Amino acid sequence: MRVPPIALALGAALTLIVVLAGCRVLPDSTVTYRPRATPTAPPSFGQTLYVERCVLCHGARGEGQGKVGPSLSSQELLTTATDDFLHAAIARGRVGTTMSAWEENGMTPAQIDSLVQYIRRWQTQPQVVLDSKPAVGDKARGQALFTQLCASCHGPDGLTGGKANLEGTAIGHPEFLATVSDAFIAYAIADGRSGTTMIPYARERGGTLDAQQIADIVVYMRSWPR
Ligand code: HEC
Ligand code: HEC
Repeated sequence: MRVPPIALALGAALTLIVVLAGCRVLPDSTVTYRPRATPTAPPSFGQTLYVERCVLCHGARGEGQGKVGPSLSSQELLTTATDDFLHAAIARGRVGTTMSAWEENGMTPAQIDSLVQYIRRWQTQPQVVLDSKPAVGDKARGQALFTQLCASCHGPDGLTGGKANLEGTAIGHPEFLATVSDAFIAYAIADGRSGTTMIPYARERGGTLDAQQIADIVVYMRSWPR
């Protein structure tokens, strides 16, 4: 079958336009991202900042981009993270990973708060009340479990994840460990982070670990010298 040259030329031009349009992701005011909660609301300050500085790694809806940036919209994160945790994560970043300390890049506390508020708009489920009791468990058992189940993604020390082309984030990072409770860590292990490769490990969620084993892992993670 013969295709007329004009059709070929048109096809090529269209492809080029589509490719070029696809490349123009950010940052400018024509980004077509719409907030989910109230589509008619004017774009907030936090949204503008997010589109300019965060979308590239965390995705337009906070869905994350695999090892490039974790999900910021999983309900497991949002329902257990405090605003302070999110604020600290943005302000101080995770030195040694690609997550910058935005405070040092000139972002004001008010701007960071507006980002936290923006991220909160992805939360559809009520906040979970976590207890503040420290985990009680066996460090050696926790280490064995960690080596067996977690090190492949997070690195044997919880730090090489994200680097070394591993899948998981730097859960051994001092900035992370200093800003979360034991219960927050245990919840992340038990319930995982939906939409990511971090699966739920709790038996009642289809995983293989009981509450004591999860506590053992938390105790081991807390023993990392920082
Ligand atoms: C160059 C990529 C990149 C950019 C840009 C970026 N991040 Fe991140 N972000 C990451 C990575 C990677 C991590 C995980 C670091 C680790 O612990 O391994 C992260 C972690 C986080 C966390 C902590 C999540 C958790 O579960 O611990 C928050 C919150 C966050 N980023 C928010 C933001 C915001 C808001 C912006 C925009 C101001 C932003 N990030 C820009 C890559 C990026
Ligand atoms: C297949 C790879 C993989 C395995 C195995 C894995 N994780 Fe993860 N884990 C991830 C990824 C990826 C994330 C970030 C998910 C996201 O985008 O929110 C994560 C997130 C976490 C978080 C939350 C960190 C934060 O900043 O909020 C904790 C805690 C955690 N993992 C602990 C563990 C433990 C403990 C194990 C072993 C029982 C484990 N993980 C096994 C990939 C993995």
